Amino acid sequence: MPLLEIDGKPVETPAGMNLIEAARLLNVEIPHYCYHAGLTVVGSCRMCQVEVEISGRKSIAIACNTKAADGMKITTRSEVVHKLRQSVLEFYLQHHPLDCPICDDAGECDLQNYYMEHGLHDSRMPLAEKKHKHKVMDVGPNIVLDSERCVLCTRCVRFCREITGTGELGVFGHGRDAELLNVPGKILDNDYAGNVVDVCPVGALTDKDFRFKRRVWYMKRTASICTGCSRGCNIFVDWETDRRYKDPQRRIQRLKPRYNRLVNEWWMCDQGRYGYHSVDEANRLLSPKTKSQSNGHALSVDEVITKIAARVESAIEKQGPGSVAVIASASSSNEDLFLLNRLFIDKLKVQNIDVTFGFEAKGKEDELLKKSDLAPNRRGALELQVKPWGGEGQGGDDLIAAAIEGEFEVVIVVRHDLSTAMSEKDFAKLRRNTGYIAYLSSHENGLTEVADDVVPIAMWAEREATYTNFQGRVQKTARPFDPAGLAIPEWEVWKKFGEIAGVELNFSDVRDVFNAIGMHFESFKGINWESVGSGGRMLNGTPEPTYKRIQTSTPLTAY
Ligand code: SF4
Ligand code: SF4
Ligand code: FES
Repeated sequence: MPLLEIDGKPVETPAGMNLIEAARLLNVEIPHYCYHAGLTVVGSCRMCQVEVEISGRKSIAIACNTKAADGMKITTRSEVVHKLRQSVLEFYLQHHPLDCPICDDAGECDLQNYYMEHGLHDSRMPLAEKKHKHKVMDVGPNIVLDSERCVLCTRCVRFCREITGTGELGVFGHGRDAELLNVPGKILDNDYAGNVVDVCPVGALTDKDFRFKRRVWYMKRTASICTGCSRGCNIFVDWETDRRYKDPQRRIQRLKPRYNRLVNEWWMCDQGRYGYHSVDEANRLLSPKTKSQSNGHALSVDEVITKIAARVESAIEKQGPGSVAVIASASSSNEDLFLLNRLFIDKLKVQNIDVTFGFEAKGKEDELLKKSDLAPNRRGALELQVKPWGGEGQGGDDLIAAAIEGEFEVVIVVRHDLSTAMSEKDFAKLRRNTGYIAYLSSHENGLTEVADDVVPIAMWAEREATYTNFQGRVQKTARPFDPAGLAIPEWEVWKKFGEIAGVELNFSDVRDVFNAIGMHFESFKGINWESVGSGGRMLNGTPEPTYKRIQTSTPLTAY
């Protein structure tokens, strides 16, 4: 392990680490454009120059392509380095448009930030002589290029070559005519295209979904996970709720990937990136619904849950637990499923219960991140044994077929919209043959129209929860803002149900519920809310996956 000095402070680094990463170990950020830890090093922008002293001999080197070595003395801040960076910046800004006031990247642009730290010069280039290039040009369905702002760092080019292997972008021309453009005949429409905006250090590539929606300094950032498939990519939720004059529905402004070495590294897919729109969709279910008489007043959530509990109890009393079926969901969190298990399996002895059904939509799976299982917590549901039991319980498609044939007096459905999951004829039969259907849903849909009682439930960005991804890693979502309307988290529905049915589920909050899981399930034993941390924690008995670089199996390396 090389031992070196950076700005007078000693630091020991793993062998082979470059000086940008070595400095980060001391919380020292060396300015850079072309370097990105997830991409090959090209050493082209020259912004990362530092002073290097080895055995008394001083030189200038680029930090991205210089490996930390024993005895090195590195100076990242000095007059010499400052002047070097100033001149590099002046070069980049020579033809740069005066766009900052209208640039979507203002506030998080490394050209702007470094200019304020190092540049602060007046332009020596007369305005009329500035070279003009393409502005507001679609390079793909979601991404806009302003090539005047581009510093030709090639990060986006390398992302498309090395990570997705799709190669849609390239740099064409020489000298001041050099320009980032689409490779002829290719549009930037791969499943991970949004990442090019994240890697672009300036405002050259912007995302149509976010462009001009919010100034970055107004937004708040919350660490969470994507619930778009069973991988659970780590993300930041960038949200803002005070300036809703533009788009009153919109609370989440964008999602950004959050580094987790063993889950998603620096990336996320577009399906997850843009999936947040469902949180503030116009068809969110904002209040409970009931088909029965309510003497003219709208029923509260508690009243509807009381009705559901009473109906379940009476069915069990008259016809036994076999008269009740629960069509549960692998999109529910660990806490939801734990309480569902305690209530329906442990206490009410309902055997017809399951989370996996043939009608569930499958996604595209690839060698990068995307998993075909779109449910974020199937592994958690399996660990928490939400499944048919006791020999007589029916699950999966048998349970659905039995429900259609009218074998159950009461059917409780969580999240699934059965109106689109089965044929019109089967759906009509299910309704006709079932005495009572209760439904927990976050959105209005065909089933909320016809179910007897419907409870609105909170979505992933409106509640704290844990999910267990396909690897067996328990990870957390956060709650940046309150649930829409009268919606409540699913676990609270089961807690209230338990209180009414005389089943003690005395948990004060979601953390309490999570911390109790380990007392009942060996794989969660000793794992508490805090220990899950921001990067997640593997279930007991499940080893960490082996690290594998997330990239296409045939990366291109030549530029
Ligand atoms: S568009 Fe952005 S990421 Fe691509 S080369 Fe230009 S500055 Fe770099
Ligand atoms: S791969 Fe799955 S978890 Fe990751 S961003 Fe895409 S949908 Fe979300
Ligand atoms: S970051 Fe080192 S040369 Fe670009």
